Order: sequence, then structure tokens, then C-alpha cells
Amino acid sequence: MTMRALIALPALAALLLAAGCQKVPVVERPPVESVQHGFRGTGMVQVYNPRRLEQQLANNAVPEAPPQVPGDGPKAGEVYQNVQVLKDLGIGPFTRLMVAMTTWVAPNEGCGYCHNLQNLADDSVYTKQVARKMLQMTQHVNTQWKSHVADTGVTCWTCHRGQPVPQYTWFTVPPQDQKANFIGDKAQQNTPAKSVGLSSLPYDPFQPYLRDALPIRVIGNDVLPGVDGANNRASIKQAEFTYGLMMHMSDALGVNCTYCHNSRSFASWEGPTQRVNAYFGIRMVRDINLAYLEPITGVFPKHRLGELGDVAKTNCATCHQGAYKPLYGANMLKDFPELASVSAVVAPAPAAAAALEGTLARVLFAVGRAEIAPQYRAQIATVAGTLAKAGTRVDISGFADQTGNRDANLELAKQRAFAVRDALKAAGVPEDRISLRKPEFVVGGVSEDARRVEINVAK
Ligand code: HEC
Ligand code: HEC
Ligand code: HEC
Ligand code: HEC
Repeated sequence: MTMRALIALPALAALLLAAGCQKVPVVERPPVESVQHGFRGTGMVQVYNPRRLEQQLANNAVPEAPPQVPGDGPKAGEVYQNVQVLKDLGIGPFTRLMVAMTTWVAPNEGCGYCHNLQNLADDSVYTKQVARKMLQMTQHVNTQWKSHVADTGVTCWTCHRGQPVPQYTWFTVPPQDQKANFIGDKAQQNTPAKSVGLSSLPYDPFQPYLRDALPIRVIGNDVLPGVDGANNRASIKQAEFTYGLMMHMSDALGVNCTYCHNSRSFASWEGPTQRVNAYFGIRMVRDINLAYLEPITGVFPKHRLGELGDVAKTNCATCHQGAYKPLYGANMLKDFPELASVSAVVAPAPAAAAALEGTLARVLFAVGRAEIAPQYRAQIATVAGTLAKAGTRVDISGFADQTGNRDANLELAKQRAFAVRDALKAAGVPEDRISLRKPEFVVGGVSEDARRVEINVAK
């Protein structure tokens, strides 16, 4: 070997090493650890990487729930114009849930991600229509799929984790490009894909099993396939799709095959009960995709849809995100009981309902007085307390009617607005988030309505 080659060798080795490391994320480097969870020598072990686990723990942190607020007082369906799912919720918990939903889905964008801030009742922003369906979906999962989610349940955070579009979703994969016709049907194989844990198995096991309900089980009881359909007729191709799905399920939960299967026989249901959880999980995911996501395909803008114009759909990773239980089993639902029951949906209220565009609360006053009546104090405190946490800015507007002395009326409207501002401050809203508007005169209408102060989302 020449001197030159000798010098080049270590450089080459370093280069190869660097290239290799790029493929395997640093956290995945060995050594890995294992725990036994079956009889010794049966291969019933879970292999895990402590570095990956550590990173996972950080990814599965749970945001703090806003403080509880009393649920008495008027219901959202009575106060607001266009509440269809949450109408029976008191306005305190309603506002609290809006704040939490903002944290879960659109923390950087705020209320305006789903709302036209000029008119909160307006449904023209597509995200609001989607969010309404999502509320129903979440309630449905938590009540109808206890066989899978138990009492742990799910909230918007389970899938969204602070992002408008969940990190893990899937679209139907377009059929293979057959322009080069001499390449036969690859049946989605030999293209290592993340969707199947970087194996060369069929990369879209979702369409057949998590949307359509093709049979997953392929193992026969006989040695040879029969001819009359009585025996197992599953093909190797079908088996490969099944294995593709299994790779996804293992990857999504961060577990090995033996987390669910008995190593003695993969077809047998003896062994870990987790396989039964998974069985229900598969059916639940189909239900979510078919009954909740597909029907709102038309609501989404084109850039949110897949190549074939289909909606983003759910698989096991959407909720689990690498953990055997989403968020390692943290129960967020207990803080949001309204997501654990199903509300009857009402049609939108008739247009004649009082227009409360952008208004969070209206406080009515007695003739000639600027003190806030007790029933409004509670309302202000709940609305304000939750808004303070969200960092939302509000405008306060006082109104006066045309009867009596004009200047005295304006002064009274101002004093009333001050009283509401002070109540908001007392409830924890920082002063720099409150703007006072010039008092306005109300022409016509009921005079009781004119003696009011409104708290609006700042425009
Ligand atoms: C992720 C989407 C989303 C975000 C973010 C959001 N909302 Fe909502 N909001 C909705 C949906 C959906 C409804 C209708 C609920 C129903 O039909 O039961 C609604 C309804 C309302 C209503 C009732 C309006 C009416 O008159 O019908 C108010 C008030 C409201 N939200 C306030 C807020 C505030 C304040 C924030 C920010 C702290 C906020 N929302 C953030 C989705 C959202
Ligand atoms: C089972 C998982 C799951 C849960 C739980 C869930 N979502 Fe979603 N959400 C999705 C998927 C999947 C989409 C479609 C992704 C897309 O928009 O392309 C979506 C989309 C959305 C969008 C549209 C975002 C955009 O920019 O297009 C909003 C808004 C939304 N969800 C709000 C909510 C709210 C509010 C809740 C809780 C009441 C919730 N979601 C619960 C899975 C979930
Ligand atoms: C989270 C639990 C879970 C994990 C992890 C899992 N499986 Fe499965 N597996 C199931 C369930 C549930 C079924 C049956 C599905 C059905 O019938 O709807 C199944 C079915 C199968 C079948 C078909 C059995 C038959 O009766 O024909 C095979 C083969 C299989 N799995 C192999 C694997 C392999 C290999 C792995 C690891 C790469 C794996 N599984 C990981 C839950 C799991
Ligand atoms: C809507 C969210 C969601 C989706 C989607 C989802 N799961 Fe789950 N899964 C959960 C929750 C929540 C739990 C925790 C239930 C509990 O605390 O017992 C869970 C628990 C499990 C468990 C039990 C774990 C254990 O150690 O007890 C298995 C196995 C499982 N899921 C498999 C799956 C598979 C496989 C899929 C995809 C076919 C799937 N899940 C899809 C929410 C989901």
C-alpha cells in the first residue's frame, strides 16, 4: 500500500462514519436495553433505547389546564348566537374550553385561527367548521370508544400538540406510475418507507385497513391452501400488507411485536391483552376516518388535501406518537368533562337572535347607576379569568340612551365602563390588554339594552 493510500484511509473512514450517522438520528445510537415480559427464553421482551425514551418524555408533556370556573350562570346556547355543540355548557366553562382549544390547536395564531374576530358567530372561516366537527369527534371517541381509550380519553392536544395540523396523518397514495410499463406492479414494495418503519413492505397499509375494512388476518390452520375456499386462501401479497400495518402499529406505539403478540403463535389471542386494545383501536380509527374526517373533505382548502383530493386521515401514530399510551397515559380529560359527554346538536339560532358580534359579555345597569350587579360580577370574573391566561386583548364599550341630559348620560356610560374595566383587572386581566372605547349613544331600541357595557375581543 502506498503512503498516499495510508493517509487517505482514516479520512475515508471518517467520511463513511459521518454518512452513516446522518441516517441514524443521534438519539438512536446503541446501546439499547430490554425488559422481559413473558417466560424466559420465549422472546417476550421489549427492546427500548433510553435516549429515545428520554426525548419521547419531553415530546409527551401535557399543558397545564386553565383553572376551573363555575358552570352555573347562563348557558353558551342562550348567550351566544351560533353555538351548536356546546350549547348546554355554562359560559364560564365554555370560554375556558375556547382558551384551552387555542392552546391545543393554535397557540401562535390565537382565537383568530378559527374566528372572524369581527363576528365570533360567523362560520365563514373553514377552521371553525372543522373544529366543530372535531368537538363532536372527540366527544364520540370518549364516549363510544371506551373499549380503546378507557377513561383516559383524548382531547384536541392528544393529536394536535399545539399545531393546527397534527404531526402524523396520512393520505391515500396514488397508484404506481406505470409509464415505464416493463416494470411490473411493485405492489408498493422495495421502497423503504417511514410509514412502515423503513422496511420494504407495502407503504400504504392504511387505505386497506384503516379506511376500508379488508381482512388483516392471513395465517391459516392448515399446511396447504385449499381449493374450495374452506381453507386459508390469503396470498403472500396480503401477508405483506398485514406486516406493513404491523410495522406501523409497532412504530407508532414504540413497541415490539411481542407487546401484543404471543411469540409462540402470532395468530393466537393468548398472551398480552394489548392485542385486544389494538383490535378495537383499528376499528376506532376506521370510524374516525369514515364518519368524521371524510365527510368534511369539502370544507378544507385544496392545499390541505392529498394528491388524490382526499382529506388527511388518522392512524395509530396520530394519537400515540411513539408512546404505548398517548402522553404515557396522562389523563387530560378529567379537567374537561364537557369533552367526555355527547351534546345534542342544535340547528343555528334564527338570525333574529340578539346580535352579539364579537361580544364576550354584556353588562346591564340599573337606571342612573354605575355599580355592577352581582350576577354580572360572576360572569365578568369567569370570562376575564380565562381570557387573562390566553393573552387576548379586549375592548370595553359603554352605551347610553338618548333620554335625559346628554352629558350626564355620557359621563354615566364612562363610569360604567370604568367599573367593568376595574372588575376585569380585579379578575386578573392586565391593564394593557384592556382598551376603553368612547361611549356611544343608542338610537331607538329597548332602553334597558342601552344602559349597557360590552366586553369585546379587540379588533
Ligand atoms: C380551534 C378553533 C377555535 C379557536 C382557536 C377558538 N374557537 Fe371559539 N369557537 C369555535 C367553535 C367550533 C365554536 C362553535 C362551538 C359550537 O358550535 O358548539 C366557537 C364559538 C365561540 C363563541 C360563540 C360565538 C357565537 O356567538 O356563536 C365565542 C364567544 C368564542 N368561540 C370565543 C372564542 C375565544 C375568545 C377564543 C380565543 C381565546 C376562541 N373562541 C378560540 C372554535 C374555536
Ligand atoms: C384523533 C385525532 C384528532 C383529535 C382528537 C382532534 N383532531 Fe383536529 N384534526 C385532526 C386531523 C387528522 C386533521 C386534518 C389535518 C389537516 O387539517 O390537514 C385535523 C384538523 C383540524 C383543524 C384544521 C386545521 C387546519 O389548519 O387545516 C382544526 C381547526 C382542528 N383539527 C381542531 C381540533 C379541535 C378543536 C379538537 C378538539 C376538540 C381536535 N381538532 C381534535 C385530528 C384530530
Ligand atoms: C399494538 C398491538 C400489535 C403489535 C405491536 C403488533 N401486532 Fe400484529 N396484530 C395485532 C392485532 C390486533 C391483529 C389482528 C387484527 C384484526 O384482526 O383486526 C394482528 C394480526 C397480526 C397477524 C395476522 C395474524 C392472523 O391471525 O393471521 C400477524 C402475522 C401479525 N399481526 C404480525 C405482527 C408482527 C410481525 C408484528 C411486529 C412487527 C406485530 N404483529 C405487531 C396487534 C399487534
Ligand atoms: C384517538 C386517539 C387514539 C388512536 C387514533 C389510537 N389510540 Fe391506542 N390508545 C389511546 C388511548 C387514550 C389509550 C390509553 C387507554 C388507557 O389508558 O387504558 C390507548 C391505548 C392503547 C393500547 C393499550 C396500551 C397498554 O399498554 O395498555 C394499545 C395496544 C393501543 N392503544 C393500540 C393502538 C393501535 C394499534 C392504534 C391504531 C390502529 C391506536 N391505538 C390508535 C388513543 C388512541
